[in-house]
Amino acid sequence: MAKCHFSAMCIICTVVSIVSVSILVGLWTYQFLSFADQTRSRTEAPDSRCLPECPLPVSYDVTLWPRLKPTNEGLYIFTGNSTVVFKCVKETDLILIHANKLNLTADATLSALNGSPAPSITSTQTISKTQYLVFHLSEKLKAGEWYKLHTEFVGELADDLRGFYRSEYEVNGVKQIVATSQIRLTHTCGIFPCFDEPKTKPVFHITLLQERGTVTSSNAEEIEKLNTSVDGTDVTMSRFEWTGMMSSDQLTLIITDGTNVQPTKTKRKRKFTPM
Ligand SMILES: *[C@@H]1O[C@H](CO)[C@@H](O)[C@H](O)[C@H]1NC(C)=O
Ligand SMILES: *[C@@H]1O[C@H](CO)[C@@H](O)[C@H](O)[C@H]1NC(C)=O
Ligand SMILES: *[C@@H]1O[C@H](CO)[C@@H](O)[C@H](O)[C@H]1NC(C)=O
Repeated sequence: MAKCHFSAMCIICTVVSIVSVSILVGLWTYQFLSFADQTRSRTEAPDSRCLPECPLPVSYDVTLWPRLKPTNEGLYIFTGNSTVVFKCVKETDLILIHANKLNLTADATLSALNGSPAPSITSTQTISKTQYLVFHLSEKLKAGEWYKLHTEFVGELADDLRGFYRSEYEVNGVKQIVATSQIRLTHTCGIFPCFDEPKTKPVFHITLLQERGTVTSSNAEEIEKLNTSVDGTDVTMSRFEWTGMMSSDQLTLIITDGTNVQPTKTKRKRKFTPM
């Protein structure tokens, strides 16, 4: 009786073990297959953080013009343009660049630094999920060649502390108008389109257009300040020296009515040669 009982237990145990192992193998296979699926779609769709053919940016020349008064639609916006110089590492007919909630206001242009004609941009695609701007090219960029991509854009001055944002503050109980508020650039891809930068620290040249009478500072020294007018609006234009080599999230820009806030300065490398 005891033996029979023991055998019954044994059979139950064996059956349970076999079922468990089957379930494990099944789950593992399922996971393996869906992982394989994911990797496959990741290389196909422009979805990955950095494709092997990620271009290496060496410099960004950026002009930004934040509007401290709302548009007719009640939006606080900034406009700007950016020229990035990059090296093509692996030939590709696709340029992926990060741009969080930026709208292009003109067709982007691509040129080759060696003067030979560059492929033309046949279409532009925005992938809001991954915050990518994708430029499809007529031909492949050549590995080892240097290119220049120019974009013009508009973005919103959010108050959610990402990217270019605005804040209002009170002095002696009086809320200061937005024109006197402080704007700080922290989340670079919300400010201008930028590449993932796994291997390089590019340099930045910033020009800022702002309402007359406001004060600006950045990582680099201000080297020129002049009152001018752009599109019929009086502005002060500040140009900053090239920054030292740094990652884009170190870039800081502050526009204020004079409150003394200083971002960390970077030392400018005396000589900059793009590799
Ligand atoms: C960028 O925008 C500013 C202001 O509108 C303009 O003066 C400048 O020429 C533009 N830069 C380029 C390279 O188009
Ligand atoms: C960008 O385009 C989207 C969609 O057309 C629009 O909802 C948004 O307000 C635009 N942003 C700016 C800052 O113009
Ligand atoms: C520009 O204009 C502002 C206000 O009109 C004035 O305070 C400032 O001194 C001027 N700056 C230059 C460089 O002329």
